[in-house]
Amino acid sequence: MAKLGLNVDHVATVRQARGGIEPDPVTAAAMGELAGAEGITIHLREDRRHIQDRDLEILRQTVKTKLNLEMAATQEMVRTALKTKPEQVTLVPEKRQELTTEGGLDVILNLKSITDTVKRLQGGGIVVSLFVDPNQEQIKAANKTGADYIEIHTGSYAEARDWKSQQQELENIDTAIKLARKVNMGVNAGHGLNYFNIKALAALGGIEEYNIGHSIMARAILVGLDRAVRDMVELIKYA
Ligand code: PXP
Repeated sequence: MAKLGLNVDHVATVRQARGGIEPDPVTAAAMGELAGAEGITIHLREDRRHIQDRDLEILRQTVKTKLNLEMAATQEMVRTALKTKPEQVTLVPEKRQELTTEGGLDVILNLKSITDTVKRLQGGGIVVSLFVDPNQEQIKAANKTGADYIEIHTGSYAEARDWKSQQQELENIDTAIKLARKVNMGVNAGHGLNYFNIKALAALGGIEEYNIGHSIMARAILVGLDRAVRDMVELIKYA
């Protein structure tokens, strides 16, 4: 059965907006697990814009399912991962100015350095996944690095606006899944997945884990707002 890996970065983004202590991504992760998420994903960015080192350290102690750390393949991040030992690391490209991860890794261009990083992380007992576009050459290169999984970047599928291009993107993803499975790599997927586009993707089969953040947090705000407002109105009225 495919699993949901809940990405709690956005909870940290709201916390950082005020520089305080709430909402706490650690609490969100625990609530997500109680609701059925089978993994917690965080992206510790170089600029620490949302998730902080403190979050990684506490989540390492409290996550009961599986902690998946998304990170750039830098020396600093590899040291952090080897020290905290998440169950899984997903290597992603990272640009300072981007709003979110924009594209998959260029494994072909960075084959040697990514292979070295994969080996170092696996040497520490960490499962390694590479975030790649659904591109056959990139997947073949990902396999050469010795990584355990690929995470297929579903951004192009999520952004496809008409039925025909959605079908084309689904086909690319399906081909990518089959190729990865053929070379014995596990397949995860993520980026831009929501309550509408997940169905056709999940129907393809072959994807083990979906890493989803934005759409779930967006829905949480709206489905939770009614209760949150009522609670405050009550306090004001009956003080
Ligand atoms: N997977 C990876 C590798 C990502 O970088 C992100 C975004 O942080 C996600 C999944 C989750 O994407 P979204 O927030 O659009 O669901």
